[in-house]
Amino acid sequence: MKPEFRTIIEPFRVKTVEPIKFTTREHREKCLKAAGYNLFTLHAEDVLIDLLTDSGTGAMSAQQWGAMMVADESYAGSRSFYRLEAAIQNIMGFKNIIPTHQGRAAEHILFTIAAKPGQVIPSNTHFDTTRANIEYGGTEARDLVIPEGRQPDLIHPFKGNMDVEALRQMIAEVGRERIPMVMLTLTNNSGGGQPVSMDNIRTVSQIAHENGIPLIIDACRFAENSWFIKLREEGYADKTPLEIAREIFSYADGCTMSAKKDGLANIGGFLALNDDGLAQQCRNLLILTEGFPTYGGLAGYDMEAIAQGLHEVLQEDYLRYRIRSTAYLADGLVAAGVPIVQPPGGHAVYIDARAMLPHIPSSQYPAQALAAELYLEGGLRPVEIGSLMFGKPQPDGSETAAALELVRLTIPRRVYTQSHIDYVIEVIARVNAHKDTIKGFRITYQAPFLRHFTIQLEPVE
Ligand code: F0G
Repeated sequence: MKPEFRTIIEPFRVKTVEPIKFTTREHREKCLKAAGYNLFTLHAEDVLIDLLTDSGTGAMSAQQWGAMMVADESYAGSRSFYRLEAAIQNIMGFKNIIPTHQGRAAEHILFTIAAKPGQVIPSNTHFDTTRANIEYGGTEARDLVIPEGRQPDLIHPFKGNMDVEALRQMIAEVGRERIPMVMLTLTNNSGGGQPVSMDNIRTVSQIAHENGIPLIIDACRFAENSWFIKLREEGYADKTPLEIAREIFSYADGCTMSAKKDGLANIGGFLALNDDGLAQQCRNLLILTEGFPTYGGLAGYDMEAIAQGLHEVLQEDYLRYRIRSTAYLADGLVAAGVPIVQPPGGHAVYIDARAMLPHIPSSQYPAQALAAELYLEGGLRPVEIGSLMFGKPQPDGSETAAALELVRLTIPRRVYTQSHIDYVIEVIARVNAHKDTIKGFRITYQAPFLRHFTIQLEPVE
């Protein structure tokens, strides 16, 4: 047997193209200044390679576009809903499938019905919208990721795992009646896109069920998590991603899902639940806020795109390319001497800006300074995940800094080729060569919550 080829190619060829706009540094300086140095405020047209998010930014396949043409737009009982329901049940096995317009709508409905003020919901790490939706109802969101998951340069195969001892302790302290559900985020986005092991999922499920508490999975990147289990966990090398995904969901009582990630669609999501009574209540709220239960805020063609996307996302060729191409970006950055969160996650590579720019204090937002410089240098748009996003203003005018100052380079699915990524590495290596000249920022305007979306800044001279 000859060894496999070393080069992992994109498992598709290009049928439709979308031009990207090249700009001069002078033009980008003007754009960035006009945007108040906030990359969210830029016009996407002025960005060359957009690494802001992997959410809804993927490229669909010819099969998805084809399915959209034959979709059923009936208000009630649409054939496209039943196709979506079957596609989800084939992978996840849950009884009740409730479509929503995106992931946070599923979260909002679930927590409105199932969580009460004064209760606590643990997770490995809650994503921002999940946390915000839990806290909105007066419930506490608690993160119980393993200690290894909080150390950027420490290599561990499953840094997204939940600390099971901490979970046991929490249940003993808080009391099972005050814990409406246990959650697990697959992969752990806020912790660097790190996977959770099957062993951990199984153990968390056991502990929850022994205490009569349901386990709900935030399934946004379940296929990427399944692939990491295949690569890294003993006993799974010969299983297919579909078999692994089925085992994952067999341990849970339901899930929330943003189909904008591993649904390979541009919009959509769903809530899935085994409990009929709970599902009935959620459907009643769905009718009030999203729509009738067989479309839930989606067009028939969106449901077709997701049904087909869920099938494609578990293909081995796709997952091998997806996870390898993220690692390829990480390898290039490490070779260029850029400090990153290790090992790289499934959907993104995170630069450790505190390690790269030690001369900029957290009070001057080093990760934002780096993100802005990457835009100026080569038209990249990453996203700051540091003190700009998570810093907490104090009454005396100071701020508590975020635990980590990270710049997330998020990779849209099936959109950029290896040469785009080579270019990204080259831009970042150039910035790394003149990193000592990069300056921090101060805030000139901020909103009272989720300030990073609309914040305005100016450079510190
Ligand atoms: N859960 C996780 C783990 C997520 O990463 C996201 C979205 C959501 C829930 C909410 O889903 O956007 O469809 O409402 N993450 C995007 C990101 C926005 O950029 O990481 P949504």
